[in-house]
Amino acid sequence: MSGAGATGKSAAPPRLLGEYLAVTTEFLEGKGVESPRIDAELMLATALGMTRVDLYTNHERPLVADEVGRYRDMVKRRAGREPVHYIVGSREFWSLDFRVDRRVLIPRPETELLVELAVEFLKARDPGARLLDLGTGSGAIAVSVASEITDLQVLATDTSASVLELAPMNAQAHSVADRIEFCRGDLFAAVADDVESFDLLLSNPPYVTSEEYSGLQPEVRQWEPMTALVGGDDGMSVVGRLVDEAPAYLKSDGQLMVEVGSQWRQVVERFEAGGWRDVQLKRDLAGCERVVTGLRPD
Ligand SMILES: C[S@@+](CC[C@H](N)C(=O)[O-])C[C@H]1O[C@@H](n2cnc3c(N)ncnc32)[C@H](O)[C@@H]1O
Repeated sequence: MSGAGATGKSAAPPRLLGEYLAVTTEFLEGKGVESPRIDAELMLATALGMTRVDLYTNHERPLVADEVGRYRDMVKRRAGREPVHYIVGSREFWSLDFRVDRRVLIPRPETELLVELAVEFLKARDPGARLLDLGTGSGAIAVSVASEITDLQVLATDTSASVLELAPMNAQAHSVADRIEFCRGDLFAAVADDVESFDLLLSNPPYVTSEEYSGLQPEVRQWEPMTALVGGDDGMSVVGRLVDEAPAYLKSDGQLMVEVGSQWRQVVERFEAGGWRDVQLKRDLAGCERVVTGLRPD
């Protein structure tokens, strides 16, 4: 990230904050990074203990050696295509900061639709509703919904032991730990005794097809947990079982909401084949089919 190395010209090395941003942006762009400017800002803000907004008013500020060292290490990692959110250690979701590292999938903005639908559904329920979040990862869904519905009781599960080391930290950080229980198990194995007890079941399961996975960016394929992403050849291996087994765990007027990808048609058909009522397909802000919802079969 020296001036000459980054630009290919014999420019003077950067000294001021604004110069570091400009040089890094060009350097990362050359490495194939999709959003080089934003990533440079996120890393520099973290290295300096500032917000991104602070950066805009400090372009003329010189960087000291320690700061340059910290920033340079981050830029080096990003040039190796490590996701920027693992490098800075957090990701904003539902306007909350979630701690993330290689143990968990980085929460995606499109998953906020699941949170929005859940909050709308739960606001119309009696107090003390119970939510099950299957495949909780960083805890993004469970923690966000619990932070909105303040008397909600949540059970959040995952197959991965390392996920369950990190997710409770996010619950703690957002003051909802006393209302979220975390359990390990394959789908409903962790909640086998909780029949007919949940008002709402939410899941963002692994749904990427094997073929789609091979075409994903190196940030995803080389760094994020594959088990969080891939749902077999057709993307249905986890969600299919989930739709089939869910009715036993929901109250008679309970609802299931699952995030979907390109296999959305098959998920809708699975709901319909299982007798789910009022099956609906919701689109995200980009207009993509993103969530399938249904009321428990009679
Ligand atoms: C797409 S990630 C979702 C993470 C988080 N809920 C989110 O939306 O950011 C899927 C999660 O499901 C977990 N998982 C995969 N297969 C599972 C299974 N059979 N039972 C329970 N959890 C599973 C993975 O470990 C991963 O944490």
